[in-house]
Amino acid sequence: MSADSIDNLLREDRRFPPSESFAAAAVATSALYESAATDRLGFWAEQSRNLLTWQKDFTQVLDWSGAPVAKWFADGELNVAYNCLDRHVEAGLGDRVAIHWEGEPGDTRTITYAQLTADVKRAANMLEALGVGDGDTVAIYLPNVPEAVIAMLAVARIGAIHSVVFGGFSAESLRSRIDDASAKLVITADGGWRKGKVSPLKPIVDGALALQKFDEHGNETPHTVEHVLVVRRGENDVDWTDGRDLWWHEQFATAASEHEARAFEAEHPLFILYTSGTTGKPKGILHTSGGYLTQVAFTHRNIFDLHPESDVFWCTADVGWITGHSYVVYGPLANGTTSVLYEGTPDTPHPGRWFEIIEKYGVSLFYTAPTAIRSFMKVGRQVADDFDLSSIRVLGSVGEPINPEAWIWYRDVVGGGSAPIVDTWWQTETGAIMISALPGITTTKPGSAQVPVPGISVEVLDEQGVTVLPGGGGLLSITEPWPSMLRGIWGDPERFRETYWSKFGTKYFAGDGARRDGDGDIWLLGRVDDVMNVSGHRLSTAEIESALVSHPIVAESAVVGAADETTGQAVVAFVVLRAEHAGGQSADEASVTLRTHVAQSIGAIARPRQVIIVEELPKTRSGKIMRRLLQDVAEGRAVGDTTTLADTSVMSIISAQLSG
Ligand code: PRX
Repeated sequence: MSADSIDNLLREDRRFPPSESFAAAAVATSALYESAATDRLGFWAEQSRNLLTWQKDFTQVLDWSGAPVAKWFADGELNVAYNCLDRHVEAGLGDRVAIHWEGEPGDTRTITYAQLTADVKRAANMLEALGVGDGDTVAIYLPNVPEAVIAMLAVARIGAIHSVVFGGFSAESLRSRIDDASAKLVITADGGWRKGKVSPLKPIVDGALALQKFDEHGNETPHTVEHVLVVRRGENDVDWTDGRDLWWHEQFATAASEHEARAFEAEHPLFILYTSGTTGKPKGILHTSGGYLTQVAFTHRNIFDLHPESDVFWCTADVGWITGHSYVVYGPLANGTTSVLYEGTPDTPHPGRWFEIIEKYGVSLFYTAPTAIRSFMKVGRQVADDFDLSSIRVLGSVGEPINPEAWIWYRDVVGGGSAPIVDTWWQTETGAIMISALPGITTTKPGSAQVPVPGISVEVLDEQGVTVLPGGGGLLSITEPWPSMLRGIWGDPERFRETYWSKFGTKYFAGDGARRDGDGDIWLLGRVDDVMNVSGHRLSTAEIESALVSHPIVAESAVVGAADETTGQAVVAFVVLRAEHAGGQSADEASVTLRTHVAQSIGAIARPRQVIIVEELPKTRSGKIMRRLLQDVAEGRAVGDTTTLADTSVMSIISAQLSG
């Protein structure tokens, strides 16, 4: 984050204490902080027993003897799907709505806990009939439709492991995730609705499975997929591979309806979710059952002030991201919440679509990303003012730092000038929220995520691992293991240690810069590694660079994340063309070709905002590309110190080229 934006953050100095009436009815109390501070492990044990139903109680809370791989509640046994479904029905809540689903074209489905439980039981039988069981991996490549939730819970119910791949990823990205996890089954849809039309998915799965892959000896490595289960949603035409491809609705119709939820050990793997790191290869983040479900349920209940009997919760994330896993699926369902699930884009068919949905379902707890708030600010408050948003009680923000202007707008326009905002910091790796205000307790500060969640230990450390004093900046670290922490990187224990634990030993290195103010509140300052954050989505500079150099016209490339008013950061690529191709296409043509190529290789979210064709990249004498200087250019600033460059004229040529 630039010095300018830090100044900007600090210019807003209003503070917002909770109202007395809100505090009086709040779910969270300051006793949570006290009991967590007195006995952290006892606190988590109590939360876990209160929030979840264990088929076999645990005797040990944390086993950190195998650090950095933690075991939480290790000798306890539970079934995650049972906790999200059956037990609510058994408690007499079968008629409560679990999901108000809204399709982009306006079709709807209302699914109660009783119906969702019945559907998941049937789906579990369907998966077992296809030979999927304990420990198998299932790739899920679906739009935000109820079947995505049903599929995840059915996989969890039978002790299999899901790997949800966001529907915007390319065939190549999907295939690499299928291969890395050796998925046996892919669950997809013919297509889903996006921006007013059907966006096909099944053809991308076909493409992924048709790709030829080779090992380091040049031998072809076949994929591991036995079946592709296809949900009918888009009604678009699809090709069919007999024997491999099966319609969800046909298999579902013939599956048995009763299914008993077997107990699994607390550390049974629940899911793998791929996220970008500093190298080109995405990391398969592994989460397990008991600890994960404890912390998502705890944070969802306390941070959103959930009153499950009356609230309607809406987290706008896609199920393909961690926010979707934890706060669309597992947290809300474990807590017996009524939620909204929306399939499409925020501005289809009109810019007020999200506000219309808030009004229609009486959404009281709303959770979204700053990038969405900034897009709404751009279209203007009159769009929101056309709808009745008075049901809103709590607003959440996630995915990137929220600038104070957006924070204030969110509170005023969406929150009616009174709803508390919780700015929640966390990551795919942390599984659940780690830093956030608690509504009803915390006096909020626009722009700061503020305080660790009760039971979570966070510090800002300097490069040597020493805690910085209030007022100072450094690196964010989580200093004690937490229940929903990642248990590893799938198939790569070395990378797991190296990435998160080589810097501060048994204190977790988060990869974010942070500052503690005089009150001890935490301000997040963006990534300190080569990970970008575009619209709240994590992208790796290295992954985009390797997609660029895979194109025959490219000799070299350097990618930077440049500050962007709406998306937080935007991808800007600097590319040197191969001499033999340089004359073939104009720079403009090459730039268009390469933007499309990245979108096709990784997915549309990775498409660079700009591809700038240059003669040479700025390098130090040892050959290291100086991205910092390119970032200056991409952000329209004066270029910083170039004296360490091997050829100091490179930057002036690039700057002249861009201004000319
Ligand atoms: O840089 C931080 C940023 O998003 C990163 C995690 O990205 P991902 O694993 O995709 O998960 C996003 C949703 C949980 C973090 O390392 N980030 C997330 N939330 C915030 C944030 N930065 C500042 N403030 C936040 N509230």
